[in-house]
Amino acid sequence: MAARKIRLGIAGLGRAFSLMVPTLSADPRVEIVAGADPRPEARQQFVSDFGGRPHETVEALCADPAVEAVYISTPHQFHRANAEAAARNGKHAIVEKPMALSMVDCEAMIEAASKTKTHLIIGHSHSFDRPIARTRELVASGAFGHLQMINAMQYTDFLYRPRRAEELDTAQGGGVIFNQAPHQVDNVRLIGGGRVKSVRAQTGIWDPARRTEGAYSAFLTFESGAFASLTYSGYAHFDSDEFCDWIAESGLRKDPTRYGEARASLRNVSGADELALKQARNYGGAGYAPPGGAVEATRWHQHFGLLVASCEGADLRPQPHGLMIYGHEERRFEDLPPPRIPRVEVIDELHDAIFDGRPVLHGGEWAMATMEVCFAILESSKGAREIQLHHQTGLPAGL
Ligand SMILES: NC(=O)c1ccc[n+]([C@@H]2O[C@H](COP(=O)([O-])OP(=O)(O)OC[C@H]3O[C@@H](n4cnc5c(N)ncnc54)[C@H](O)[C@@H]3O)[C@@H](O)[C@H]2O)c1
Repeated sequence: MAARKIRLGIAGLGRAFSLMVPTLSADPRVEIVAGADPRPEARQQFVSDFGGRPHETVEALCADPAVEAVYISTPHQFHRANAEAAARNGKHAIVEKPMALSMVDCEAMIEAASKTKTHLIIGHSHSFDRPIARTRELVASGAFGHLQMINAMQYTDFLYRPRRAEELDTAQGGGVIFNQAPHQVDNVRLIGGGRVKSVRAQTGIWDPARRTEGAYSAFLTFESGAFASLTYSGYAHFDSDEFCDWIAESGLRKDPTRYGEARASLRNVSGADELALKQARNYGGAGYAPPGGAVEATRWHQHFGLLVASCEGADLRPQPHGLMIYGHEERRFEDLPPPRIPRVEVIDELHDAIFDGRPVLHGGEWAMATMEVCFAILESSKGAREIQLHHQTGLPAGL
């Protein structure tokens, strides 16, 4: 029997949406019925690509009776109001990371969904990736003894992609703590069982022309006694995809000879020109090209850099092709064949929740706990002290 379809409305037709297009258009369980964006060129492209109903506002999209669930991929500052509008209209929501810009906003989103008994999922984040989920399964199985330590490391060109002004202003959700740490923290929390006890971190703002956090290191302790070290740099020098067989975060092969392109493309661009460059390359813009190119080669599992989880009996290393298990006397590779549909796990979670009543893993409480760690990274760095956490949550029973 064919699976029931989710009638999906899209709020925010920008870069995040274009990264989800390969998922949303390939999954037969999704029917894209409407889209909202203030940019007319984005709405025009949307109608031509999907034939769905265009709306100028998210409010109108949420009120559209054809829409059953909303994928919210607007800038962070709108996540709370958009999620509340979805819930108010009885619509389920997938909200892009970061969930929101404060704990108060996260709590309001959870309350709005709970009041109207709608499902709230925060994603995509890389903890949906199959190799990370498989690492969690192996850790939880106890086959290798207790988890002791996790090391996660990611180096990218994040800070040198064309940006909106607020993406370079920490107070408005800019920088790598709001934009990249939610992925890395989610991965580490998932493998570590969720409950982080404390955070000590240092952040770096190293480019006077882009005065927001471009790097951090954070040391996390878990209630279980395990500990984790997380490092991120978005300064476009070393690229940790080199440690992932030159498979990019998207799961597609990367060409290492294109070194330095991100910084070079911004060399003579500033302020309004940067926004124009971003808009031109964005969905519906004159220079828009689907991420990954029109003809797609094999797409391996997506990832967020190097991660090693150390248990008493083995180190586990999730990778785009599978999982390397380094035991006492031998190591073996567990193959994870390429996904049929990229990021299919996000749709699985929503579909299973709506139609089978399964509990969601990446729900509001889970994502708020991830944001609590991110806020603590900023606070710890600012105050040069360790921060104790109070809103952590484990994995739902059975997951
Ligand atoms: N999971 C991922 O891999 C991933 C990747 C990129 C972005 N994101 C997240 O997605 C969100 C959007 O980021 P982006 O990079 O796509 O930004 P973007 O600027 O490329 O796109 C945002 C889109 O929202 C539209 N928009 C602005 N205000 C709006 C409003 N009030 N109502 C409706 N639409 C509005 C803009 O016109 C634009 O088309 C962010 O929260 C970001 O963190 C997630």
